[in-house]
Amino acid sequence: MAYRVPFVNPRQHYLNLKSEIDAAITGCLERGDLIMRQQLADYEQHLAAYVGTRYAVGVNSGYHALHLSLLAAGLGPGDEVVTVAHTFVATISAIVHVGAKPVLVDVGKDYNMDMEALERAITPKTKAVLPVHLNGRVCDMGRLMALARQHNLIVIEDAAQALGASYAGQRAGSFGLAGCFSHYPFKVLGGFGDGGIVTTNDAQLARKVALLRYNGEDRETGEYHYHGYTALLDNVQAAVLDVKLRHLPKWIAWRQHIASRYRQGLSDVGDLTLPHFEGEAFVDIFQNYVIRTRRRDELRAYLRERGVETLVHWPKPVWEHKGLQLGDHRLPETESICREVISLPMSAETTEEEVDYVVSSIRDFFRQ
Ligand SMILES: Cc1ncc(COP(=O)(O)O)c(C=O)c1O
Repeated sequence: MAYRVPFVNPRQHYLNLKSEIDAAITGCLERGDLIMRQQLADYEQHLAAYVGTRYAVGVNSGYHALHLSLLAAGLGPGDEVVTVAHTFVATISAIVHVGAKPVLVDVGKDYNMDMEALERAITPKTKAVLPVHLNGRVCDMGRLMALARQHNLIVIEDAAQALGASYAGQRAGSFGLAGCFSHYPFKVLGGFGDGGIVTTNDAQLARKVALLRYNGEDRETGEYHYHGYTALLDNVQAAVLDVKLRHLPKWIAWRQHIASRYRQGLSDVGDLTLPHFEGEAFVDIFQNYVIRTRRRDELRAYLRERGVETLVHWPKPVWEHKGLQLGDHRLPETESICREVISLPMSAETTEEEVDYVVSSIRDFFRQ
């Protein structure tokens, strides 16, 4: 179905950057620069500088950024890692795949980890906490880092949705031992396929992730130090991401503008709750614009009829997917979020006219 307002617009995204992107890709192809060449090193350096860490190591997905960070941090069987249930499944799968136990806690109204729930979940087996900065908003890292210090916990940040977001002037991905980002095409900085990156200030962790992503091999000596993975960020993707990184500040500013336009149009409508939260320390980048209503399914169907594409992140709690074997949980906020949330069109290509159309459609729905 062709939507009048698509959720994202990858075709337009490419056309807006065509000459720069084409030059980056053909540059790699013409030189034969495919695997671990200068373009990857350049991108890693630029991304680290943007996030504010000493190192960045490109990998082939946000999932592998998490998995390799957890492994490099030494987490494994017998360890508990506290994270949220309200996240993309990859966060939890990465913990499971290193053999550790994911301990799922609830989130607060801002969709991020509830710090009191984190504190209650800490046991003598807790080795790490894995906060997820969801929808482009950083968790309360002041409280989280204080708790982590108090209980001697490793912090690995899932910053897949929060590149450029900050708390107290510090960017997502620069607080913990490692920050994990996704370059999935529809992320705020997306490639043309899968990709991800790990940020860190720890030289040892950076080196271990760099070895693990390349089958454990030290490229200088040919020595295999670990049983690793084939999980590199492709050079061509890195070259494209390096081009796009230069546009990121402008795209983030546009997302913030779109968010404030939604806010203006929707702040007094029906039972809607909008994603604008308190706290001057937070700068949100609006990876997603998520609203809540008890009439979610009806609203979604109505918007679809009007040609507005929306998504639901996510329609049922992760533990209800029985194949994941996560046990049973009672996490009231997570459960009601699953019933109530709907994500509106939001991207660097979303236009003011599109936002106004979405707003008037939503207003019409609640007027009926
Ligand atoms: C919160 C979160 N964690 C992890 C991931 C995994 O990233 P990827 O799809 O690049 O593996 C994503 C993205 O899809 C995500 O949104």
